[in-house]
Amino acid sequence: MSSLSQKLTFIMEDAFSALDLPAENARVSVSAQAQGTQFQCNGAMASAKAARKNPREIAQNVVDHLKDSKSSDIFEDISIGGPGFINITLKDAYIADNVKELLTSERFGIASAPQGQSIVLDYGGPNIAKAMHVGHLRSSIIGDALRRMCLYAGYNAIGDVHMGDWGTPMGMILSELDLMKFDGEITMEMLAEIYPKASTACKEDKERMALARDATKKLQEGDGEYTKKWREFIDVSITGMKKNFDAMGVHFDEWKGESDAHPFIEGMINDLRDKGLAIESEGAVIVPVAQDGDKKELPPLMLLKSDGAVLYGTTDLATIMERKKSHNPIKIIYIVDQRQSLHFEQVFRAAKLSGIAPENEIELVHAGFGTMNGADGKPFKTRDGGVMRLEELISMAEKKAQTRLDEAELAKDMDEAERAGIAHKVGIAALKFADLQNNRIADYIFDIDRMTSFEGKTGPYLLYQSVRIKSLLRKAGVSDGIACDEFKVTDDDRALTLLLSELPSHFDAAMKNYTPHILCDYAFKLAQEFSSFYGNCHIISERDEVLKLSRLALCQQTYKQLSLILSLLGMEIPERM
Ligand code: ARG
Repeated sequence: MSSLSQKLTFIMEDAFSALDLPAENARVSVSAQAQGTQFQCNGAMASAKAARKNPREIAQNVVDHLKDSKSSDIFEDISIGGPGFINITLKDAYIADNVKELLTSERFGIASAPQGQSIVLDYGGPNIAKAMHVGHLRSSIIGDALRRMCLYAGYNAIGDVHMGDWGTPMGMILSELDLMKFDGEITMEMLAEIYPKASTACKEDKERMALARDATKKLQEGDGEYTKKWREFIDVSITGMKKNFDAMGVHFDEWKGESDAHPFIEGMINDLRDKGLAIESEGAVIVPVAQDGDKKELPPLMLLKSDGAVLYGTTDLATIMERKKSHNPIKIIYIVDQRQSLHFEQVFRAAKLSGIAPENEIELVHAGFGTMNGADGKPFKTRDGGVMRLEELISMAEKKAQTRLDEAELAKDMDEAERAGIAHKVGIAALKFADLQNNRIADYIFDIDRMTSFEGKTGPYLLYQSVRIKSLLRKAGVSDGIACDEFKVTDDDRALTLLLSELPSHFDAAMKNYTPHILCDYAFKLAQEFSSFYGNCHIISERDEVLKLSRLALCQQTYKQLSLILSLLGMEIPERM
């Protein structure tokens, strides 16, 4: 099954085709007008010019056609408004039939992808030895949500953390360990100290930098001693990262990094040279990627520096080969800061030119995102101007969530452990929802007070509403799925009933553009619509048994949809609150 607007679109497409109008104009959507009509199609206006007809005349033809054809038992009213809108109101019987189908559908009408298709998602992207900061937060939150969505859509979704573990910073650390003549066990605390020290020294001193470069090169060439030490501090680093990601509820299927591309690099460069795609330039090796018709000049992708070291673009290109070999994906989605768009454009072009990712086999997508800003509109910092570490941020959100729970007198009679668990879930939900609800491309302002509020468009509000609906269902003694032989629609529940049929459209739209905020919008609207329904309707106290069961089924459906969406967004609903 599909959403009601999708079903109406199919009907409208048939009508358009029968009248020799372009079917792609036949899209039916939920009406933007708050009152009155339920759905609308604006296709008459879009078709007018080519058909050389007045849009109202076209709309009239469509309406007449639909009234004549057998689909007419669907429409309570179908009429023309303004310059040629086709306005649709459905018969309650049709709405009821649709909802009965929805109540027994396992996937809410959401279609499933063909079996056996893999999608690799590249997110997180922390760098070894450096503390994870809020810059990696957005990538993790959005990436993990997209991974969950791809999985639900039926793809074999593979989340890869793609650590920065292969560049000059590795050589900086290794050479620093040399200078310290260090031979003991490396700890996270040590790394946190060594790296900034080494990096500053390298910036200030050319000779020190030369040592770092040399060590990087040796590591990349497979030096035994360096590889051993490197592996050691990588493992230490990963342990630290895992702790943070676990606390966030962000999951990775693979803990690979730039270094995993290494075995592919030499062959790749030789092949690109043979094909004449990679050329020498001032001692370096580059791939020109500019094309006719480029609006901006696109610089070449650099594969090797003049000292022979590989770069970010080299490992990214070779990583595509590695992923193709391991997973043969139909798509790779990179959830990385929008400011890296040029880098990805270069890598994607080189991948296509070289046949590493042939256009019709692998789709490469850069799902970029904007910055998380402080109240001053500049990238978010701690009070003393430093970069806030992820663990500080999480604990800040938890604390604020605890305060909010106290203010709202929630989670009162619980023991310490349960309260802490709830504060954690509320805090994480606040952080994630505040991030995901924005179109990912946009910057947003980090506002801990607003995002933790139990009112308004926030994660905590949605958790709270879900818990309330769940407890209502518990009170009514409803556990399993309610299927209604008879379903009654009334004025007070029609809006919620109609909205519940629209999830597939929103899910599809969110998948199409890699935009979880579409699901956030839908979840919020659903929670609000539920609130008015709840305020206007008798539910448990309803004496008409059919109506009571219909309404309980709506409650249950609302809960199921909210919990699906929240889980897709990576938020956990507490048992109670
Ligand atoms: N480590 C990089 C950074 O911190 C992000 C990696 C993104 N993924 C990629 N395949 N380039 O900026």
